[in-house]
Amino acid sequence: MGLKDEILKQFESSRGTSYSGADLAKRYGVSRAAVWKAVKSLQKEGFAIQATTNRGYTFLAANDRLTEAGIAQYISFPCRLRVEKSVGSTNDEVKKLAEAGGDEWDCVIAEEQTKGRGRYNRKFVSTEGTGVYISILLRPKFSAAETLFITTCAAVAVCEAIEKISGKSVGIKWVNDVLLNGKKVCGILTEASYDVESGGLSYAVVGIGVNVLFQKFPAELAGIAGTVFEEGEYPQEGRARIAAEIIERFRYYYERIPQRTFFAEYKRRSLVIGKRVKVFSGNIEGWATALDLDENCFLKVRFDDGNIKLLSSGEVSIRI
Ligand code: BTN
Repeated sequence: MGLKDEILKQFESSRGTSYSGADLAKRYGVSRAAVWKAVKSLQKEGFAIQATTNRGYTFLAANDRLTEAGIAQYISFPCRLRVEKSVGSTNDEVKKLAEAGGDEWDCVIAEEQTKGRGRYNRKFVSTEGTGVYISILLRPKFSAAETLFITTCAAVAVCEAIEKISGKSVGIKWVNDVLLNGKKVCGILTEASYDVESGGLSYAVVGIGVNVLFQKFPAELAGIAGTVFEEGEYPQEGRARIAAEIIERFRYYYERIPQRTFFAEYKRRSLVIGKRVKVFSGNIEGWATALDLDENCFLKVRFDDGNIKLLSSGEVSIRI
C-alpha cells in the first residue's frame, strides 16, 4: 500500500480527527513534504481535507466517497474489494472475475453504473455518488435448489444494514425488493452460471443496489423508488459503512443457508403476508390474498376464485 492509501485508511478510520504533518510523517517514516504531497493528491481526488496551521490535517466527517480502505476497515474476513468510479454493471464485472478464476468473496463496488440492471433485464438507475452498487462472487457448495436463497439472504442482510446505519425500519416485498415507507430503496439480482459437464453450479453473482442518499428519480419511477436518506439528511458514517455492513451480514446468512438461519427474519419482514396482491407470474395473472411464506420462501396465495397456489418466483405488486 502506498503512502497516499495508508493515510487515507487512517483518515477513514478516524473521520473528523486532526493529525499534524509531523505525526503522520513519523507514523509512516517519511518526510513532512511527502505527507503534504499525499494529502494534496487526496484533495485533488475530491476528498475534503482541511489543512490548518495549528491543527494539521482534518479529514472531514462529511466525506462520502467509496474507497477500498474505507470499506475494508469494517470487514472482518479476507475478501478482495475493488472500488470503481464508473462501470456498466458490477454484476458483469464480477462475472468476468469469475470466468478468470476469481475467488469467492471477490467484490466489485461502484460509485455509478451506466448499465445497471434488475430482474427481467429492467434498467436499475444507479446515479453517481448517491448509492451503493455491490456485486459479490460466490462459489456455492450447497445444492442448486438452495441457490434460490442467495437473494433472500441478501434481502435480510440489506434490511439489517440499512436499519443499523439509518435507524429506519424497512421490509421486504417478495422476492427481492427492500422497501422503506412504501418505496423501493434496494433491488437484488442474483445470476448464476452452471457447469454443463457436472450439472453443478460453477459460480453465482449476487448484485445489490441500495439508493442511499437523496436523488430525484425519473418521472416513471416517482412514487415507486425512494432513498434511505431524505433531502438534506446524511448518514453519520459514509456509504462505505453501509457497503461493509451489507457484505458482513450477507456472509453471515449465506454461510448458514443449509440451516435457513435467514428465514425467520425474512418472514418477519415480509410486507406481503396478509395483503391483497396482484400476481404476475409466468402466465398467471390476477388478484389474490397472500396467505403465507413456506420454508422454501414460496408464497402461498389464494386467488379471488378460491384457488390456492404456491408461487416460487414472479412479481407481486401490492394493492395499498
Ligand atoms: C431489481 O430491482 O430487479 C434488481 C436490481 C439489482 C441492482 C444491482 S446494483 C449492483 C448489481 N449490478 C447490476 O447491474 N445490478 C445489480
